[in-house]
Amino acid sequence: MEDWLNDSRDLKYNLSSSGCEDFYLKDFLKLINEDWSVFDTIYLGDNDTLGSLQLRQEIAKSYSQVNVNEIMVANGTSEALFCLFNELLDKDDEVIVPFPAFQCLYEIPKSIGCKLKYLNLLECDQWRLDIDKLENMISDKTKLIIINNPHNPFGWTLSDNEIIRIAKIAKKHNTYLLFDEHYRFLPLTEDSKIISSGYDLCKNILEDHVFATGSIIKCFGIVGIRIGWLLSNQHMLNLCRDYKDYITHTIPEITDCIAYLALKNKEIIISVMKKRIIANLKYLNEIMSRNQHVFEYKKPTGGIVCFPKLKNSINTNDFCEHLLKKYKVSVLPGSSFEIKDHIRINIGVEPLKFQYAMDLVEKCVDDFIKPESIV
Ligand SMILES: Cc1ncc(COP(=O)(O)O)c(C=O)c1O
Repeated sequence: MEDWLNDSRDLKYNLSSSGCEDFYLKDFLKLINEDWSVFDTIYLGDNDTLGSLQLRQEIAKSYSQVNVNEIMVANGTSEALFCLFNELLDKDDEVIVPFPAFQCLYEIPKSIGCKLKYLNLLECDQWRLDIDKLENMISDKTKLIIINNPHNPFGWTLSDNEIIRIAKIAKKHNTYLLFDEHYRFLPLTEDSKIISSGYDLCKNILEDHVFATGSIIKCFGIVGIRIGWLLSNQHMLNLCRDYKDYITHTIPEITDCIAYLALKNKEIIISVMKKRIIANLKYLNEIMSRNQHVFEYKKPTGGIVCFPKLKNSINTNDFCEHLLKKYKVSVLPGSSFEIKDHIRINIGVEPLKFQYAMDLVEKCVDDFIKPESIV
């Protein structure tokens, strides 16, 4: 996946990444009504290992049950996951993860020597999580269940009831539960609420057995600042902080400050991104319904990506390569998620760009698929 994303980075019509189109710093500052002087007091010394207090306070405000002592800011969610997995998991522990999934969620536990159990997301379930199947997979060796909500790449979200049901199952079987909530700030509904956090909903049920990771960098178009965070009980947070001391130790004050400003102005940024995504979704839905003979598509309800299936045994690697070579548009082949008949499309780019690129996807469908091959 990283090779494909790297090669697509400088393309004008890049729909293969999983974040909202990123800002230039000057445009970001303009949007939130700040100027360069906001950086005047940045100290070029060491930052707090957990992230600055002002940033952690701002993060805590986007939850209802979280205080600053439960937050460790990291250099990207990946680092937070790396620390947690290495402190929580041991060789031969069983870990359950819905599949397909963001690669860190299974590759890091695998590298520790854990036994991965994949809960395959199936077309017959509309690629959603089947909670009964999840419970049936649990054994007395299961240490951790990982839930990514909103889901990358399918774009579904879980209801509060579903989250609580999963927590009760984890409690019954005495397993840990981790919510990866990377895309939580972008629900694709008209109302202004952000998506419920599993950590908030489950803390009373699971106490020290629940963890979550959070991020703003993709939802807010600031992916280059590499900030993410872990929510955890005090004991595990201390262990993770010690572990992080051996890797990056801390996060730079400059990116800490940009993350703080972004969260402080989250309403403004979210409303810009949501407007964009809702316009793109409308356009996407039209294209998907015009091309139902080719695409099997489930509308996403959260986040920035969707993952339609290409029907009629179309080779999605060939499709994506043809689209890239002939039309200079990049979408991500499903093989990056070890799912060969899907493609991932980013719905967080500027609407005019999105429409232009999707028109070319439609053209690619036309020249790629001979009408006689469609049954
Ligand atoms: C579901 C999910 N979790 C975690 C990450 C890692 O995020 P970061 O870039 O903050 O390390 C990603 C990145 O795409 C993701 O999609």
